[in-house]
Amino acid sequence: MNNNLDGSSPARGVSAISPKEDGGFPNPGLPPHAHRQADISKAAEKRAERIVASMFLLSVVGTVLFIAAYFLVTPTGINLFAEEKSPSALWWSNLTIGLGLAIAVFFIGAAAVHWAKTLMPDEEMVEERHDIRSSDETREIAAGIITDGLEESGIARRPVIVTAMVAALAALPVAVLAPLSTLGPLPGNKLHHTFWGHNPGQRLARDHDGTPIKLSDVAMNSIFHVMPEGLTRETEHHIEERAKAAAVIVRFDPKLAKNEESAAMGVEGVLAFSKICTHVGCPVALYEQQTHHMLCPCHQSTFDVTDGAKVIFGPAHRPLPQIPIEVDDEGYLVAPGDFIEPIGPSFWNIHKNKDV
Ligand code: FES
Repeated sequence: MNNNLDGSSPARGVSAISPKEDGGFPNPGLPPHAHRQADISKAAEKRAERIVASMFLLSVVGTVLFIAAYFLVTPTGINLFAEEKSPSALWWSNLTIGLGLAIAVFFIGAAAVHWAKTLMPDEEMVEERHDIRSSDETREIAAGIITDGLEESGIARRPVIVTAMVAALAALPVAVLAPLSTLGPLPGNKLHHTFWGHNPGQRLARDHDGTPIKLSDVAMNSIFHVMPEGLTRETEHHIEERAKAAAVIVRFDPKLAKNEESAAMGVEGVLAFSKICTHVGCPVALYEQQTHHMLCPCHQSTFDVTDGAKVIFGPAHRPLPQIPIEVDDEGYLVAPGDFIEPIGPSFWNIHKNKDV
C-alpha cells in the first residue's frame, strides 16, 4: 500500500506538491494519473489475470519439457529424434533440454512482470523532503551538553593543566621524528661520483673478463659493456662500485653525430655512456644498430646515442650521462675522469654539490 509519509494518500490526478509562493520556479507536480484498463474494467482485470495464469502454466510446460528431454532425448539413452550416440542425438538432447529450461524461466519472469504492471496496486507516492537542520530545541540541547562537559572538566579554572597539555601534545611529534636521526649517515657526495672518478686515466675493460679494450677492437655499430679496469673483487664495496660504474661504449659513423659536444667526448665515433637508466635505474642494455638507439627493457625509455643519449621515448627525463674517453699511447681506451653528471635516477639536488 503506497502512502505519503503523513499516512494520507495523494488525490489522484492532482499535483501532490504545491507551487512555490515566493515567486521561484514553480513545481510542475505530477502529471495526471492514467488509469489502467484493469483498474476501470472488470473484464480487463479478468483478462489480465488469465494471461498471468497462462504464463505460469506455460512455465510448468517448459519444466515438464526439460524433465522429459533430460530422460528421453539423451545421446546415450532413448532418443526420439536420432540414433543413439550419433552427433545429431547430442544436438537434439542439448536443444530440447535448453529449450525446456528457457521456456520455464522466461514465462515465470514474464508472468511476474505482467502481474505487476496490470494487477498490482497502482498508486503514485510522494515522499516530502524534510529540513536537514536540527530543530532549535535539539541544537540548544547539544550546545548545553558541550558547555556542561567543559565546565565539568574544569579547563577554564585550571590554566596550568591546559598549558602542560599543550606542551605534551606539541612534544609528541618530536618523539616520532627522533628515530629519523638514526637512519644512517647522509650519502654526502657518493651519489655524484663513481669509481671512474676515483682513479682518473683508467682503461675501459670488458665487463665479463676485465680485459682492456683498444680503439681498434671496437667495430663499427658494435657495443661493449665496460667497467673500469682497476675495479676488481678486491676493491672495497666492489659490488656497489660495479653497479654505479657500469657503462657501455658504442661506435657509429662520426658523420651521424647530431650533438657536437657529445661527439667531442668520444674518439672517432666511439662514445661511452652510463648503462644505468635515468628513469629508475635498470640496465640499459639493448642497442639498435640501425637507428643507434639504446633501449631500457624495464619501461622502454629510448636514448639516441648519436644525440648525446637524449631521451626520445619513455618515462626517463634526462640523457644517459656520458663519460669522456681518450686513447692512450698503446691504443687503449681510457677515461680521464668521471661521468659528466651523476648516474641513475635523478634526485632532488642532482646538480648541486657536484664538485664536492
Ligand atoms: S628504468 Fe629504464 S625506463 Fe624505467
